[in-house]
Amino acid sequence: MERGLKMQKVSFSFVGRGILEEFDLCLEPGVNRTILGMSGVGKTTILKLLLGLLKPDSGRIVIDGTDVAKISEREFIRLRKKIAIVFQGSALFDSMTVGENVGYRLLEERELSESEIEKIVLEKLSMLGLEHAIDHYPAELSGGMKKRVAVARALAADPEYVLFDEPTTGLDPIGVYNIQRLILMLQEQGKTTLMVTHDLETAYAVSERFSFLHERRLLFDGPKDDFAKADIPAVQEFLKPTEQSLFRFDSE
Ligand SMILES: Nc1ncnc2c1ncn2[C@@H]1O[C@H](COP(=O)(O)OP(=O)(O)O)[C@@H](O)[C@H]1O
Ligand SMILES: [Mg+2]
Repeated sequence: MERGLKMQKVSFSFVGRGILEEFDLCLEPGVNRTILGMSGVGKTTILKLLLGLLKPDSGRIVIDGTDVAKISEREFIRLRKKIAIVFQGSALFDSMTVGENVGYRLLEERELSESEIEKIVLEKLSMLGLEHAIDHYPAELSGGMKKRVAVARALAADPEYVLFDEPTTGLDPIGVYNIQRLILMLQEQGKTTLMVTHDLETAYAVSERFSFLHERRLLFDGPKDDFAKADIPAVQEFLKPTEQSLFRFDSE
């Protein structure tokens, strides 16, 4: 079986507006990648397509060798457990404690006993230095702590692939640094990470391969060290916005 997450010639549009056109992406196990691109270019859409939250107009999504369009909903749910996502803004349930947030999916699946779930919740929280916050509510936490709870929740089902949607947006420098360290720690534990962001510094810190999305296509796909050298106007504009780029990207 060929492992990895793949998008093959995926096209997708929102009510007639093209977002991706024959888009190819390959996330191989152990190769950590960042997809860079301006706001509104389609980064979150890519993650939602990989998770099955959106369906491509054409093209294929392949998870560990299986074309997800060719399997039943039940099989898809099983396959989908290999992938976890940390959404932008953390998306915690405000009415649940930290512990309940981290364990709720396991509880819903009804496959483990409550004490087994509690053990996993504690393990994930302590890995992230959050065990003291187990009975707190999200409203009592800082942005950086919320993000870490969201990571603990994503890890509860022991995924192989962890997707991050702009994990550093809105965090202070210490929060940004902590998230970078956390992503590196997950990689050391054998998780494969895919991040989408416009935070270049974090991209350089946590991933070895970059993909650059611009106007429905990947204009760059390669080792991060080649990115800044790429002779691609949109890449150079992204790295070093000029006076004109203000107006160009304003037309959204
Ligand atoms: N549910 C939706 N309906 C219509 N358009 C949408 C919807 N979600 C996102 N879009 C549009 O699709 C484009 C890509 O969105 P998104 O993937 O969220 O971009 P990014 O994450 O790169 O900022 C944006 O221009 C956005 O306005
Ligand atoms: Mg987004």
